[in-house]
Amino acid sequence: MLGVTGSIAAYKSADITSRLTDLGISVFPVLTKSACQFIQPLTLQTLARNPAVYDLWQEAESWQPSHIELADQADLLLVAPATAHCLANFAQGFSPDLLSSIHLATQAPTMLAPAMNGKMLAHSATQGNISLLRKRGYFFIEPQRGQLACGYEGDGKLADVDTIIDAVIDFFSQVE
Ligand SMILES: Cc1cc2nc3c(=O)[nH]c(=O)nc-3n(C[C@H](O)[C@H](O)[C@H](O)COP(=O)(O)O)c2cc1C
Repeated sequence: MLGVTGSIAAYKSADITSRLTDLGISVFPVLTKSACQFIQPLTLQTLARNPAVYDLWQEAESWQPSHIELADQADLLLVAPATAHCLANFAQGFSPDLLSSIHLATQAPTMLAPAMNGKMLAHSATQGNISLLRKRGYFFIEPQRGQLACGYEGDGKLADVDTIIDAVIDFFSQVE
């Protein structure tokens, strides 16, 4: 399951989807409403060759709620990029949308690749959420230092796509 949230780095999820699919990993994209402002679900759906979903209330024909069905199918929930808002939802157990509902309903490990403005990342609220999630055993793909889209230089840039792909490969090589 590839969660995509409302960061300017959301465009990189297309590359992540394509690279993972090429490796033979089945990718099911789940976008937040904000992510859809940055990248079209259709782009990810086409690259993944699987439906891209974003609406909690758009139920498939099955009797089972989609978020439960999707949560049950996942081997790994990777969120790349993960916004400050997503980290807060996950840390506090809020489930206002499809992605955060899947997050609560899945038993798959969660891997988070944060991306945000350096001051958002440094904020004690964000740092508190990150530390809570670390204590719960969530995997983090650390953001890097660099030129941020907001115009500042600092921490908070999404990890390189190569680093994200390597983390997923490592994960699956350890569970196999
Ligand atoms: C142009 C633009 C870029 C943004 N980039 C980021 C970002 O990189 N990281 C972040 O945490 N929030 C970013 N935001 C703010 C989020 O989109 C906003 O907090 C939103 O509520 C996140 O929703 P989501 O977590 O449900 O996707 C950005 C907003 C705008 C308008």
